[in-house]
Amino acid sequence: MSQQVKGVIARAKGAPVEVTTVVVPDPGPLEAVVRIQACGVCHTDLHYRDGGINDDFPFLLGHEAAGIVETVGDRVTDLAPGDFVVLNWRAVCGTCRACRKGKPWYCFNTHNAGQPMTLVDGTVLSPALGIGAFVEKTLVHAGQCTKVDPAARPAAVGLLGCGVMAGIGAAINTGGVTRGDSIAVIGCGGVGDGAIVGATLAGATTIIAIDTDDQKLDWARNFGATHTVNARDADVVAAVRELTGGNGADVVIDAVGRPETYKQGFYARDLAGTLVLVGVPTPEMTIELPLLDVFGRGGALKSSWYGDCLPTRDFPMLTELYRQGRIDLDAFVTEEIRLDEIEAAFDKMHTGGVLRSVVIF
Ligand SMILES: NC(=O)c1ccc[n+]([C@@H]2O[C@H](COP(=O)([O-])OP(=O)(O)OC[C@H]3O[C@@H](n4cnc5c(N)ncnc54)[C@H](O)[C@@H]3O)[C@@H](O)[C@H]2O)c1
Ligand SMILES: [Zn+2]
Repeated sequence: MSQQVKGVIARAKGAPVEVTTVVVPDPGPLEAVVRIQACGVCHTDLHYRDGGINDDFPFLLGHEAAGIVETVGDRVTDLAPGDFVVLNWRAVCGTCRACRKGKPWYCFNTHNAGQPMTLVDGTVLSPALGIGAFVEKTLVHAGQCTKVDPAARPAAVGLLGCGVMAGIGAAINTGGVTRGDSIAVIGCGGVGDGAIVGATLAGATTIIAIDTDDQKLDWARNFGATHTVNARDADVVAAVRELTGGNGADVVIDAVGRPETYKQGFYARDLAGTLVLVGVPTPEMTIELPLLDVFGRGGALKSSWYGDCLPTRDFPMLTELYRQGRIDLDAFVTEEIRLDEIEAAFDKMHTGGVLRSVVIF
């Protein structure tokens, strides 16, 4: 028996999101229905609403979530009703080329539900990042459910499902930040502050937070930034050089994803340094760089999808560090909101004052 629940969709490019009724089918083989307890509002949801990801409207938004497994389909062996899980957008398939090469963090097999979630009139919904979690219950692949310590606060550990994990992983997994490194993070939202947390865990000694909003910079300091730069009143490249003994940073993380921030990151690196792009550009953005500088500065230009994470490895580990008080996931949650307040949360991404708004069910 399918169920009808409340969810938030983006019906058309740029149009305000709306709360509507979503039909959730019973789980098919290898699938699960999860009752969502909390879901963070990530900038990527806004990209979806604005048509910046693709045109597969209507989208069922939300993808940074924790909840309780309600039912499982056939052939699901390691998940049971009642399990507390963080949802992930990478159900590692084990059979694609990346998995067979031993690099499952590049597995990009997305889940195509046997029977998709729809609107009441039968219109098929595209779940954001293959999840769709601004909804009371959602249908996912069982491999998208990672069990974590049920004592953890859903609003906090749900953020491991996207932004915070993407940031931590961009620093540690993609950027390879290690003890004694200098790192600069451009854009200190949920993702950028995740990168700062990752750099702290890895033992970086100089952690430079860069944003255009002083409030964000204050929060970045609380997460472990040793220096802050307001990009509105400073030359970012010169400031990073000055704070790193004239060298530039070993690793720069661009957690904004615009041509101008990418260029700043490119030149703010030390020679042979690493630039990691984790912010998501939009389709019309392009970049021009002197090829001689690309050659002459050496190093690595990398992109980070989901922080090159492995949910089965990383979610329980980070939940444990949170439980021990070694990473402060609660500090990412600025406000808890209702399902009908997501549009307002998008506005606050531009007006500031909020690191993460988290929808509580
Ligand atoms: N690669 C991935 O796997 C992944 C995962 C999640 C999110 N993202 C992307 O990461 C980006 C950040 O997401 P978020 O949720 O942290 O967003 P956010 O809106 O919470 O934070 C963005 C921050 O960048 C700052 N900023 C904007 N323009 C700036 C500039 N020119 N210089 C310095 N700072 C600037 C803003 O003040 C804000 O603090 C988005 O593009 C999002 O789509 C990528
Ligand atoms: Zn996200």
